[in-house]
Amino acid sequence: MGENLQEEKAKQPPSREHLPRHIGFIMDGNGRWARQRGLPREMGHKSGAEAFRRIVRYCQEIGIPTITAYAFSTENWKRPKHEVDALMDLLGEYLADLSRFQKENVRLLVLGDVAPLREDLRASIIRAEEGSRNNTGMTVNIALNYGGRDEIVHAARKLAEACLRGEMAPEDIDEAALSGSLYTAGQPDPDVIIRPSGEMRLSNFLSWQSAYAELIFMRVLWPDFTPQHLNYALHQYAGRSRRFGGV
Ligand code: FPP
Repeated sequence: MGENLQEEKAKQPPSREHLPRHIGFIMDGNGRWARQRGLPREMGHKSGAEAFRRIVRYCQEIGIPTITAYAFSTENWKRPKHEVDALMDLLGEYLADLSRFQKENVRLLVLGDVAPLREDLRASIIRAEEGSRNNTGMTVNIALNYGGRDEIVHAARKLAEACLRGEMAPEDIDEAALSGSLYTAGQPDPDVIIRPSGEMRLSNFLSWQSAYAELIFMRVLWPDFTPQHLNYALHQYAGRSRRFGGV
């Protein structure tokens, strides 16, 4: 932690062969950013959504194939209704803009249990996912009403149902079968998870998929997160030696 953006490392990303294939972002610190400015928390989320758009564009520019952003957790329903509504409005606005996904060649996927979401949001999700399915520039996953444990429970249920239907036997359930039943089925695991705002935990984000992810914690609050912060984090990632249990 304690990133120094004056360093050369913040100016350019590492070379392409050292870049991760999949980055997870825990977009934390919006509330504190707003409080520091005497603004309502909703303004922090609005500014956080702008930071997200900026980072998506930059990731595409430098050649990151997949990112996943934690936008709303299964626990976030505990927040005041006006804050939840404001977050859903921001997400709705983003998801409804299918023409931008087409223009930017972005494939959009929502990870999470969408059943309890507002009708208009569910409709935008289906439209965005189906409309952007064949885009090849980059995959953007939005974790929305997402919880890592909840995802594993859903996957276990799917596999149990397949067993009951006689399509598979319990002994066929292995890591590949479980991975293939998650919201991220078919996607590479995140190589790195970046969490700004000084908190050092994963908070139920990509619990299964993060088994070998490098974790990078930074002090900056998410609304202030810039491409320079990402460059800094990517150099940290590139400098780590990943052994996946080997030597
Ligand atoms: C955590 O910060 C952030 C969230 C719960 C919401 C993240 C959502 C966005 C950045 C907007 C998403 C929009 C798009 C378009 C993807 P916090 O509120 O817990 O901050 P705090 O810890 O400082 O209170």
